[in-house]
Amino acid sequence: MAPRAAALSATYRGGGGSTGIADGDDALAYAFARMPATFAAVAACLAELARLRPDFVPLSLLDVGAGPGTATWAAAETFPPLDHFTQLDANPALRALAADLVRGAPRFDALRQLPGDVRQALAGAGDADLVIASYLVAELPEADLGPVADALWRRTRDTLLVVEPGTPAGHARIIALRSRLIAAGAHVVAPCPHDRPCPLAPPDWCHFTRRLARSRDHKQVKGVDAPFEDEKFSYVVLSRSAPARRPSAARVLAQPLVGKVEVAAKLCTADGRAVTLKAPRRDKAAYARARRWNWGDAVAADD
Ligand SMILES: C[S@@+](CC[C@H](N)C(=O)[O-])C[C@H]1O[C@@H](n2cnc3c(N)ncnc32)[C@H](O)[C@@H]1O
Repeated sequence: MAPRAAALSATYRGGGGSTGIADGDDALAYAFARMPATFAAVAACLAELARLRPDFVPLSLLDVGAGPGTATWAAAETFPPLDHFTQLDANPALRALAADLVRGAPRFDALRQLPGDVRQALAGAGDADLVIASYLVAELPEADLGPVADALWRRTRDTLLVVEPGTPAGHARIIALRSRLIAAGAHVVAPCPHDRPCPLAPPDWCHFTRRLARSRDHKQVKGVDAPFEDEKFSYVVLSRSAPARRPSAARVLAQPLVGKVEVAAKLCTADGRAVTLKAPRRDKAAYARARRWNWGDAVAADD
């Protein structure tokens, strides 16, 4: 198992994604190596969605490119009322593993699995309140991003979450999908506090990170010693209704630098700008507030 997981991790880091998964052992190795990290990323995005839209109560989920069902589990945990689960994936070994993982859990008794390629199968997948494509788009040819974005949006009754690796390429895919769907009527819930064009230009890119502890088995299967790993991800949550936003809403785009003289925090602001806010020590309240900010936080830039 460890050599397979190491090989799949290497393929993943090399941009190859889940393409090498041919049988049940590969699927299991992939889940051991990657599921804790992709789960952490999706759970973080969903927590932000739930925090920003406490009124959103999805009853149905469509998990597209579900793999072992990572996003299904994260969504079930975040939204207890969810009771209609559909998973779509082209890979039979991963579908079989996803089915094994929910076996015996009554919550998922009615889980529906759809085989097939998203480029065709999404048309017959049915609509859902919440649609998630987690680490899927990276596996598609660039030319398919637009049509797949449109198809994901057509299936979305309320909210769509797309998560990608937190690389410049992952961010670029998120931005392309974001602007295309805003043009089609979508509104951004997170991470951007606005629907305007992304203010970041290469080589800068928007991404976030989650640190997760590695269990003994996780370390063993990956053949590594470090007791934790940092998963970097880019994401967008799009909704059919415009979220309520304060004019001072901002997103912290990197870990703020805390110095003796000031705290410097890189923010994306509600008017669509990327700025470095400097909170001087002599302004005790502003300094104390900015000191508590963390990378990824949604904050009020001026109160
Ligand atoms: C990197 S895995 C992510 C799995 C899971 N969503 C997660 O976040 O852990 C990508 C998944 O997308 C599926 N996939 C890739 N291209 C696909 C396509 N064209 N149609 C359907 N599924 C696809 C793969 O089989 C794989 O399960």
